[in-house]
Amino acid sequence: MHLRELFAEDAARAQRFSLEFGEILLDYSKHRINAETMRLLVALAAQAQVPAWIGRMFNGDSINNSEGRAALHMALRADLAAFPEGRDVMPVVRAARERMRGFVDQAHHGVLLGAGGRAIIDIVHIGIGGSDLGPRMLVRALRKFRKSGPKLHFVANTDPADLDAVLAGLDPGTTLFIVASKTFTTVETLDNARRARAWLAASLGETKDLARHFAAVTANEAGAKSLGVPAERVFPLWDWVGGRYSVWSAVGLPAALAAGMDAFEALLAGARAMDAHFQTATLERNMPVVLALLEIWYVNFFGAQSRAVIPYSEDLRDFPAYLQQLEMESNGKRVDRDGHEIDYATAPVIWGAAGTPSQHSFHQLLHQGTHLVPVGQGADPPAAGAALAANALAQSAALAFGNPAPGTPHKALPGNRPSSILLLERLTPGVLGQLIALYEHKVFTEGVIWNVNSFDQWGVEHGKNLARALLPGLLQDGDSSGLDASTRALLERLRDRD
Ligand code: F6P
Repeated sequence: MHLRELFAEDAARAQRFSLEFGEILLDYSKHRINAETMRLLVALAAQAQVPAWIGRMFNGDSINNSEGRAALHMALRADLAAFPEGRDVMPVVRAARERMRGFVDQAHHGVLLGAGGRAIIDIVHIGIGGSDLGPRMLVRALRKFRKSGPKLHFVANTDPADLDAVLAGLDPGTTLFIVASKTFTTVETLDNARRARAWLAASLGETKDLARHFAAVTANEAGAKSLGVPAERVFPLWDWVGGRYSVWSAVGLPAALAAGMDAFEALLAGARAMDAHFQTATLERNMPVVLALLEIWYVNFFGAQSRAVIPYSEDLRDFPAYLQQLEMESNGKRVDRDGHEIDYATAPVIWGAAGTPSQHSFHQLLHQGTHLVPVGQGADPPAAGAALAANALAQSAALAFGNPAPGTPHKALPGNRPSSILLLERLTPGVLGQLIALYEHKVFTEGVIWNVNSFDQWGVEHGKNLARALLPGLLQDGDSSGLDASTRALLERLRDRD
């Protein structure tokens, strides 16, 4: 069936295949589906016991079975007296939120002072992965809600160029570093934190007041203390919060510093509303579930290997990168929850960029390429003007209906290329909270149906261990005989180069 036919035979198709929750409208009518498809996909979700699994997650069960942990990131945005039952984490969550508010107030009132007594005007967030992509994305996305206060900067890469570029032009006396790392063992983050400390000490001297220039966010308080971060500046994280689900905690401090604690609370409230929707809506009217089922439809029934994420919003430019970790680190798995190899596809490759620059880059392939690439577009037209909206709608229509262009095959667009549009009323902190929680729950639903543990990431460890083992060999003449021929030759080339 071609989308042209599906629309021709159903005048009410756009209404039939759209869902609205809060300030988000999901139009999924330009997908290769009909009512029977959705009935079968919803039956698949029911067969996989998605509602029961939602209950387990919100109940605080150790659904992250390979690490024996709960996945309770929803508690970070809850406003319940106690949650979850029998294991109330709200007292520590509320206490941490109050401390965040205190810190943000100090920064905004210019009473966050450096070693020399001058007010902090630049805050550098050092973190990587889930301790970077979220806060970085939020600060850009909430640009229009910027409050006056310290300027925010982000450093993630172990490439010294990243920190150097940020420190160029900053004054040590008025710069503070937030070191965010759930484990406080991540090499890149610790290296950057040590280099930042050396940079401070070079001009402020090795004094105990250097501690005024540090804060940390971590589940490893001892690790932060050993870096010299004073206890009152260590914001907690907990093992029941996955790194890529941690933006609702003090990992999101840069967003609160940029847009204010009230905006941060509005972000939490938006996500909380999406949590309630996810827990209560029927499967067929459940926005995260419908998005998950569409993903499974293309990945497992059409063999799609990737999905393009195209926010038609410059402020959401970092959203595709954020989703890459959320989706690919969660469900990029090849064994099921019990460790058995699985014989079906799981998470697709997530990629993308902001519209309309994306149109002048990879849309050629989306329209005339040979791969099926479902597209997820987001748009917040009112703020961004008609031209952006026109392009977002035009691209989705062109993908779906194509352009026969008889007689000029090189110009012809086959169409029948699926896309969803998420229309955001306005890109406010609340709507952003809804949007991020929407994708978190989409990912969770896929994990349940693919029967994989969405909350661990064992696959990243081996490469880190190999890098740790290789480093000494690069720094000085070590024994590289144990290495494979390719790595040995490259290592020797690098070593000889220096
Ligand atoms: O290497 C992957 C990872 O563990 C991610 O899951 C995590 O978000 C990131 O590294 C950073 O980890 P941490 O916050 O512990 O420094």
